[in-house]
Amino acid sequence: MKLIIATIKPFKLEEVREALTAIGVRGMMVTEIKGFGSQSGHTEIYRGAEYAVNFVPKIKLEIVVAAGMADQVVETIVNTAQTGKIGDGKIFVLDVLQAVRVRTGETDADAL
Ligand SMILES: Nc1ncnc2c1ncn2[C@@H]1O[C@H](COP(=O)(O)OP(=O)(O)OP(=O)(O)O)[C@@H](O)[C@H]1O
Ligand SMILES: [Mg+2]
Repeated sequence: MKLIIATIKPFKLEEVREALTAIGVRGMMVTEIKGFGSQSGHTEIYRGAEYAVNFVPKIKLEIVVAAGMADQVVETIVNTAQTGKIGDGKIFVLDVLQAVRVRTGETDADAL
């Protein structure tokens, strides 16, 4: 299993969620965060205005999938979240050692 951590622009959340659902992603965690990348937040446009502080609002997605599906998830996020302007986000992929569905005790692939 792989954990895909992705930051995206907030207005892209619905489009990304729909695209991920369409390729078979069945669950994800969504968090409103603030962050900065290589511009340190200073030059990024958010809702039409240049953001004047160090941190820019983003949505963080955390998605655990079978390892064989990770590349497709990453491609789907890139294809739907990309505007080509600065601040489109970052994607990190990590190994996951264990998953458990609390209701049933099922583990790993059965728990996803
Ligand atoms: N090295 C990093 N480690 C952890 N999170 C990061 C890192 N770089 C960026 N982020 C997160 O990703 C978000 C989006 O960053 P952003 O898209 O601006 O990256 P960037 O590298 O500056 O790319 P761009 O040139 O497109 O702006 C940040 O708000 C932050 O939450
Ligand atoms: Mg940036």
